Amino acid sequence: MLILGIESSCDETAAAVVRDGREMLSSVISSQIELHRPYGGVVPELASREHLAKIDPIVDAALEKAGVLLDEIDAIAVTQGPGLIGALLVGVSYAKSVAYGLNIPIVGVNHIEGHIYSIAFENPVVEYPAMALIVSGGHTNLFFIPEEGKYKVVSRTRDDAAGEAFDKVAKMLGLGYPGGPIIEKLAKGGDASRYRFVKAKISDGTPDFSFSGLKTAVSRRLSEEPPESEKDIADIAAGFQQSVVTALVSTMEKQAAEYHPRTLIVAGGVACNQELREAAESAAARLGLPVYFPSKHLSTDNAAMIAAAGYFHLRSGRRAGLDLTADVTLRLQNIDLPANGVSRSRKRFRT
Ligand code: KG4
Ligand code: ZN
Repeated sequence: MLILGIESSCDETAAAVVRDGREMLSSVISSQIELHRPYGGVVPELASREHLAKIDPIVDAALEKAGVLLDEIDAIAVTQGPGLIGALLVGVSYAKSVAYGLNIPIVGVNHIEGHIYSIAFENPVVEYPAMALIVSGGHTNLFFIPEEGKYKVVSRTRDDAAGEAFDKVAKMLGLGYPGGPIIEKLAKGGDASRYRFVKAKISDGTPDFSFSGLKTAVSRRLSEEPPESEKDIADIAAGFQQSVVTALVSTMEKQAAEYHPRTLIVAGGVACNQELREAAESAAARLGLPVYFPSKHLSTDNAAMIAAAGYFHLRSGRRAGLDLTADVTLRLQNIDLPANGVSRSRKRFRT
């Protein structure tokens, strides 16, 4: 089945052609980073206009690169949410008009589920139950996935997303946008042990994350002791990054020990971060589990992951009607798996 994937939830206009959910024939991305850079973040109105201008040429480019004609496409998968309303509407409306014109099925995909499927192209087939840490500019969630398509939110952020924290701290340090890659680069030459920042965790005993306290700690440090050299900035970047990575990976490791997944997945824009990858690999080795990451091209927003997730839904018989609409707060269905029922459920899901 040839699926055309379309993604426009934030600041990337993307299209991809994917065969049978795992073979990527093309993935074309038009990034708006330069457009938003002067503002230090995404400006929604500018994003919508840019999506509108780019979507048609990007879809054409994806078809051409795949060597596929539009009428050879069997179905369309489009990001339905969460994301920016104007941005999402461009992709959804475009996808519906193409599906209608070709008289082929269309399915709406949750963007976060898309990130989970970003590992589908370069890794072995996922064995369930799985556990997925999705860390991006808009989301930070740890999911337990007892079987394909079923999700329990084990941990989430109570405030900022991990990538957002990278972006905001970079802004405080006067480093530019997006902050993640810049902080990572600077942190390489820094000493993470010089400034020990608070852990990016909530302190009420739940496994939830919290990045606002960490952000405040960095801000306080900057006003109390303004950095005087590149070395000072590098040490702050390293200390901050270590605090984020430790919170993410120690939570994943602890929860994996409780939920007993067979596979670990780490995806989303922040999964580009090498420190995070190495820490997750060490945790997976301690747990004796495989951990799958997308390559960097597939870690940040793209449409191949949307097509891969869409393939799962289409194969399961799901179809959207032409009343499909953007849903800014779309959530992944959160199944009810009581914490004390974990071992019971585990048995159930393993049979
Ligand atoms: O997945 P993504 O492209 O967009 C969302 O769905 O949000 O993620 C973008 C986020 C940005 O916040 C960016 O700073 C962060 O991913 N990011 C990184 C790195 N590369 C991108 N964060 C940490 N280290 C990196 N190397
Ligand atoms: Zn994303």
